[in-house]
Amino acid sequence: MKHLIVANWKCNPNNLVKAKKLFSVVKKGIGVVKEVEVVVCPPFVYLSKLFGLTLGAQNCFWKNLPAGRGAFTGEISPFMLKDIGCKYVIIGHSERRRYFKETCAMVNKKLKAALANNLKPILCIDSINQVKRGLKGISKKEIKKIVIAYEPIFAIGTGKACSINKAKKMNFSIRKILGEQAAILYGGSVNSKNAKDFIKKAQFQGLLIGGASLNPKEFVKIIKKVSQV
Ligand code: PGA
Repeated sequence: MKHLIVANWKCNPNNLVKAKKLFSVVKKGIGVVKEVEVVVCPPFVYLSKLFGLTLGAQNCFWKNLPAGRGAFTGEISPFMLKDIGCKYVIIGHSERRRYFKETCAMVNKKLKAALANNLKPILCIDSINQVKRGLKGISKKEIKKIVIAYEPIFAIGTGKACSINKAKKMNFSIRKILGEQAAILYGGSVNSKNAKDFIKKAQFQGLLIGGASLNPKEFVKIIKKVSQV
């Protein structure tokens, strides 16, 4: 299975010029690396301004609106994301659960709405319970289209990545539920020094990267290291 590396820019950078620059340096740096699928998830407002790499959104509205539109001030529908060329959407990131009070029931609805619009969801979880509750009522066939990202809260943005052993155990526990073919990423303080171990030793298919994805040199270094595994 091809490795998958997802950049989660979060609420960065703070203007379009910087966003375009970061994107183009990454694009150039990756060059012809074929062994890794690279996805960039910038803030919504930059999505339609960046070209040449696979794009993902960081969130979407939970309701599957008829024709993707309706009276929901401030929301972005999965339909709209698909329309501007997004392939992926991050759902249930711990920062959304924490600061915006997203519940597993909302996450579950978002997954269904994303799937109904042919977006590939990246479901972020930090426990088996969140996997089970997030996927409730979704058919086995549809679950196969969902990427799971194991992101232990203590490791996000702290510089303290999860131990390889603990991450590997969680990876295997999720596979026990979803099957051997499940696409599972690790996220949380990934850098160019630890990236390879999460792929090679903990056997994740790929990585979800926050902080290090804002440093193009470091991000490209991670991609190149993973491409050698
Ligand atoms: P981090 O963030 O790489 O900065 O720890 C990961 C994430 O929040 O997805």
